[in-house]
Amino acid sequence: MFNIILFGPPGSGKGTQSEQLIAKYGLKHLSTGDLLRSEIARQTPLGLEAKNLMDKGQLVPDEVVVGMIASALDANPQARGFLFDGFPRTAAQSESLDKLLRLKNTEIGVVLALEVGEEELVKRLLNRGLTSGRSDDTNEEVIRARIVEYKQKTTVVADYYKQFNKVVHLKGEGTVEEIFAGLCSEIENRMS
Ligand code: AP5
Repeated sequence: MFNIILFGPPGSGKGTQSEQLIAKYGLKHLSTGDLLRSEIARQTPLGLEAKNLMDKGQLVPDEVVVGMIASALDANPQARGFLFDGFPRTAAQSESLDKLLRLKNTEIGVVLALEVGEEELVKRLLNRGLTSGRSDDTNEEVIRARIVEYKQKTTVVADYYKQFNKVVHLKGEGTVEEIFAGLCSEIENRMS
């Protein structure tokens, strides 16, 4: 089993690259953002609570997302590996993920960190907001709040995995194909 964390700020291309990576390597895609949006669409109590925070650009509580990931891991016992997208986002989530994976006798193989300048992130997300229907993409203030939240709470995730020598930084600007090729090359280095 080979497990990957695709890491980076909002708009860095995690979702875009995930689609191609899961197809190429046969991984199960676990995006906490997508899982939360599915709860919102079904108007569950969890979804209604999460929407309130997501619309302000704030993270939802650790126990909520860790619970969702634990259920998803249990629901996919046959997976060849997992691609985590948008998770973990805090030091506590990183530690919880490692514990959950240890219980399944596996671990994170590599953390691929996409790097994109702030103004490019804002431009990409405002542009996506024209068609995505995502309420957190339509307002520049909320987009900037998401980036602040990333800097304050999420950059520590890379520091956490650095101590295990698992982090690779890659340029997230350029064509989707160029970035995909760089990601594949790092994955294959680590797999071999
Ligand atoms: P989430 O859904 O995870 O959103 P995000 O991290 O803000 O990331 P995005 O989906 O906005 O961006 P992305 O990096 O996937 O980029 P994409 O490929 O789409 O989280 C949303 C919210 O949920 C959070 O704010 C939080 O409230 C909550 N949440 C989620 N997980 C949580 C957790 N673990 N803990 C707590 N709360 C959590 O690309 C963006 C745009 O750029 C697209 O339009 C794309 O077409 C374009 N693009 C992609 N690549 C390129 C390229 N190379 N050049 C030009 N444009 C490109």
